[in-house]
Amino acid sequence: MRTLLITGGAGFIGANLVHYWARQYPQDRLVVLDALTYAGNSANLETLPAQANFRFVHGNICDQLLVDQLLAEEGIDTIVHFAAESHVDRSIVDPEAFIQTNVIGTHNLLKAAKKAWLDNPGSSRGRDGVLFHHVSTDEVYGSLGSEDPPFSETTPYAPNSPYAASKAASDHLVRSYYHTYGLPITTSNCSNNYGPYQFPEKLIPLMLINALEGRPLPVYGDGANIRDWLQVNDHCRGIDLIMNHGRRGETYNLGGHNELPNMEIIDLLCRAMDQRFAEDTSLATRFPECPAAKGKQCTELITFVKDRPGHDRRYAIDPRKAQKELGFVPHYSFIEGITATIDWYLTNEPWWRAVMDGSYAEWMTTNYCNRC
Ligand code: NAD
Ligand code: TYD
Repeated sequence: MRTLLITGGAGFIGANLVHYWARQYPQDRLVVLDALTYAGNSANLETLPAQANFRFVHGNICDQLLVDQLLAEEGIDTIVHFAAESHVDRSIVDPEAFIQTNVIGTHNLLKAAKKAWLDNPGSSRGRDGVLFHHVSTDEVYGSLGSEDPPFSETTPYAPNSPYAASKAASDHLVRSYYHTYGLPITTSNCSNNYGPYQFPEKLIPLMLINALEGRPLPVYGDGANIRDWLQVNDHCRGIDLIMNHGRRGETYNLGGHNELPNMEIIDLLCRAMDQRFAEDTSLATRFPECPAAKGKQCTELITFVKDRPGHDRRYAIDPRKAQKELGFVPHYSFIEGITATIDWYLTNEPWWRAVMDGSYAEWMTTNYCNRC
């Protein structure tokens, strides 16, 4: 039995990992530490099985005392570190929180792990049976041209946004704790995720919900920017494989071999929505502002807006290392994953209505409506 500390476990990918882990390893104890920022939502964990060995702690990874205390009192042997400020647009408007959480917060966790596992004279753990897994992003590698090969683990770091720079800094700190102190670490750098519980500021849920509500679908720039999309459960399986079989001190890139320009995704979502409304007449009653409810097409909501400053043109992952060493292959095709995601947002309307509270509305009004 392991005792995991999952930071940021009330956010999008963290919550999916908690559900995944509780299904996969029901004997393990799961301790979630989450500050419940605008992106964190304890409701994401409400549907865990009653028998799950689970504790939720509302707290900040920057709180060194709290983290030290948790590691000691719970006997944590595994840290899975998701907690972060994660939205590029917010990092452009206000980078400060990104430095605090992503850089200082990650360093606090590393210090606490080193203290609990390596420094405490009374600790019987040492390096055996402990692991700090750091969840990072492909954005640390910067932007690719259309002919460039995808990012591999040896691609030089070239972060372009304050978000990417803060994640790059955290990756370097994690690496340094392995090389300097021998702290057992692994790092994953993953491409763009989509799926259940994603906060509706990111491309896919934002477009879905705006279409349902009849609001503009804001396309940054020419809409030709490319991302490499991975269903979130495939990301969780990749993390599991790395934690259980990855070499300590190594980084692994996770991706879906699924590069798509933004406009292609938006078109696909619009067409899927039109079809859903045609097949299910109750949707028109639930979402009367959606063009599909009025016999029109959702694409009419597409609105080209001012580009994101420093907008990276293309991300693509070369996942061959994870495939070769760990047997990592995504299970979901994009069409299966996106169909299930549309189902999830249609079924879970109360979830997204609840997260779109005052602070969300304020952010959207000042930062999106001004672009249009
Ligand atoms: P998210 O924004 O949905 O969730 C972040 C979670 O961290 C929230 O629950 C939030 O409350 C919590 N948090 C923030 N600051 C905290 C703090 N100081 N202390 C404790 N908790 C705090 O993010 P996500 O999309 O789930 O991303 C999770 C991780 O995965 C991040 O590290 C991100 O960089 C990485 N990642 C994300 C993607 C993606 O497509 N979303 C892709 C690759 C990597
Ligand atoms: P996003 O989901 O913010 O992820 P990231 O910037 O971390 O890749 O954005 C994905 C792509 O979609 C990116 O190229 C920016 C673009 N985008 C839009 O065109 N409009 C939007 O409203 C949003 C949120 C993103």
